Amino acid sequence: MTEARAGRPQVSIIGAGAVGTATAHWLAQKGIADIVLTDIVEGLPQGKALDIQQSGPIAGFDVHLTASSTGYDETAGSAVVVITAGIPRKPGMTREQLIDTNTGILRQVIDQVVPRSRDAVIIILTNPLDAMTYLAYKVSGLPRERVLGQSGALDTTRFRTFLAMELGVSVRDVDALVIGAHTDKDMVPLASLATVRGIPVQTLLSAERLEAVVARTRRGGAEITELMKQSGFTAAGAALVEMIEAVLLDRRRVIPCSVYLDGEYGERDLCIGVPVVVGFGGMERILEAPLSDAERAAFAASVAAVREQLAVLKL
Ligand code: APR
Repeated sequence: MTEARAGRPQVSIIGAGAVGTATAHWLAQKGIADIVLTDIVEGLPQGKALDIQQSGPIAGFDVHLTASSTGYDETAGSAVVVITAGIPRKPGMTREQLIDTNTGILRQVIDQVVPRSRDAVIIILTNPLDAMTYLAYKVSGLPRERVLGQSGALDTTRFRTFLAMELGVSVRDVDALVIGAHTDKDMVPLASLATVRGIPVQTLLSAERLEAVVARTRRGGAEITELMKQSGFTAAGAALVEMIEAVLLDRRRVIPCSVYLDGEYGERDLCIGVPVVVGFGGMERILEAPLSDAERAAFAASVAAVREQLAVLKL
């Protein structure tokens, strides 16, 4: 590992588990930022960072990776901080227990990270995603523009993948959005707005086929977990890097993210997935998507589900 250099933006990834490592891997390949990987497990982030660094000569990147398992000083001055630290829900664990445990971890991490990177955009991955993004917004004291939850970026890439497979076209020509809560049951894939080069998919697929694609999107994560007995991580890392790149390069990409709503979509005081213009300052603005009646009802149910999660948070 080599020293990070002043001048190149720095991205810190807290949690060097499966998704944190995939994120570092995809991000290194972009060559747009030095990377700091941290974890509480001694040796883990150091090993992961070194492994990725050693692929640089072949992959053709010259960014620097550093790592820490003893503190947060290395993260200072980051442009973006991604938080993946936490535990996944284990068999027998209630949602409340998961919220309790990950709330403790996230509070600890935010307390360490934010004072060292006061201008950073913070991106949350820890589950339950919408509740943890809300917690991060509340305890960090940062403006809402700079606290984003990664939810819709992953659900949307899954929706686009399955639409392209069903239609037999390139994923590059499929456009779509998934909004709402980041859970199987409560995400809202917006079938009415999905297009292939501007052609509504509703005119290309039967209602039945489209519903099957929506159902597979909802179970996009669960299908992988059932197959390999572990959560997916590659697409989640790619989704995070889509957001990181939009911030670092001020791309103003339209990416569904979990953000704090203050009247948008008729809702206040919760974080939930909506289409966001993502640029240098994090959230530039929220776009209001025209929803069908069914999608509007599904979004309302999704809001109710997130409010149930928030009721468990002790804030
Ligand atoms: N500080 C830093 N790292 C931590 C902390 C902490 N306080 N607590 C846990 N970690 C680390 C773990 O040591 C682990 O390496 O976070 C990492 C999480 O990685 P994985 O268990 O591999 O989980 P992953 O599949 O990457 O998912 C990341 O997404 O699904 C959610 O809530 C889930 O937290 C999980 C996150």
